[in-house]
Amino acid sequence: MSTFVDIKRLGQHVGASVTVRGWVQTTRTHGKVAFVVVRDGTGIVQCVLVQKQVPAETWELFQTLMQEASVLATGSVRVDARAPGGHELTLESLTLVGSSAEYPIQPKEHGIDFLLDHRHLWLRSSQQRAILRVRHEVEQAIHDFFYQREFVRIDTPILTGAIGEGGAGLFEVDYFDERAYLTQTGQLYAEAAAAALGKVYCFGPTFRAEKSKTRRHLTEFWMVEPEVAWNDSADNMRLQEDFISYIVERALERCRDELAVLERDTAALQNVTPPFPRIEYTDAIRMLQERGHEIEWGADLGAPDETVLAAGHDRPVFIMNYPREAKAFYMKENPADPRTVLCDDLLAPEGYGEIIGGSQREDDHDKLQRRIRAEGLPEASYEWYLDLRRYGTFTHSGFGLGVERTVAWITGRPHIREMIPFPRMLNRIYP
Ligand code: 4AD
Ligand code: MG
Repeated sequence: MSTFVDIKRLGQHVGASVTVRGWVQTTRTHGKVAFVVVRDGTGIVQCVLVQKQVPAETWELFQTLMQEASVLATGSVRVDARAPGGHELTLESLTLVGSSAEYPIQPKEHGIDFLLDHRHLWLRSSQQRAILRVRHEVEQAIHDFFYQREFVRIDTPILTGAIGEGGAGLFEVDYFDERAYLTQTGQLYAEAAAAALGKVYCFGPTFRAEKSKTRRHLTEFWMVEPEVAWNDSADNMRLQEDFISYIVERALERCRDELAVLERDTAALQNVTPPFPRIEYTDAIRMLQERGHEIEWGADLGAPDETVLAAGHDRPVFIMNYPREAKAFYMKENPADPRTVLCDDLLAPEGYGEIIGGSQREDDHDKLQRRIRAEGLPEASYEWYLDLRRYGTFTHSGFGLGVERTVAWITGRPHIREMIPFPRMLNRIYP
């Protein structure tokens, strides 16, 4: 038996006989020559069989091969500049590991429900593989960005009694006779850790029982949330634009092949560098009204409003200092206009909408307690959070970036359901 080699590394074995292990993408015959394209996760390689040069069993086996059968393919590595990956395998033998009769996903158009029902297999297709690789690179870029800046990663709980983003959209869990929830945000815990370590971030799955069926909403999504002691809202926004620019640059640099598979117009991402435009909420409302949008001061922005505000920009746009009623209880009152809070939403261009929500946190104990009461939140569950204002309160800010929305924007795909390996949505928990 020859050595097992990753397809990506065939270049180190030119002229040698090696074995690749993978799945059959396509087969075709041309008289007494046959071709099998094999994929192993590191790359794809075309294997060539010449009837006269392989054992009869191998030639026969080839005739029965189906899309997505798993195989061991042994042959000698040849340089071929025209081949994907630059190499071809001249086959000596072929072994079937697992057959694949009637593979459900065929090279034709399938409806989205069919594809989502077969998500466990759909992941094998080229565009889905490209998306997952971009997601992986974005997640690694997130960790690298914070590591380079000496943030400490904090893993915050998924089961919690403290509601982070308001009562609507909570998944309740029976927690030994007590009521608990799946977390909507790790932020409140990250705030506690910021008083211990200064610069921290959490990164994990978060849950919202969103009844909305939109292309921007999942019920389970991944959010990264930095929290920084002594940063005010302006510092917070500078961190956000540096962060987004770093992530986009990394994707452009290291996911060129994947973005090409996805036919992403990367020119639309080239100018994502600081500074990003900053628009006050009040000005945004005026701009929307001038364009005929039916929106009054006080309301949160809807998706069509966000699309219009970000249109025509070649980088994301900050909308800052929203009315208190439109935002979460923990945001700090804006001293310049106490009807508003010190916060920002970062809107991606091209209709992708809000990818970040951030704010300076209310650091005044009494004001925060009044907000908790006014929102009708269970005060006893927030005693620990109020303690952060009783014992050495401090200016601090942070934000949350939704990974799936960010990846949708970078890959240029219309819907975030393809941005996570196994999406959870209204009416979907299978597979
Ligand atoms: O604006 P949000 O609700 O902010 C927070 O949760 C804060 N605690 C963050 C913080 O300050 N630490 O959510 C942040 C981001 C949104 O901008 C969006 O990208 C994403 O999370 N997001 C969703 N993504 C997919 N599906 C959903 N249902 C989402 N809800 C929010
Ligand atoms: Mg938000």
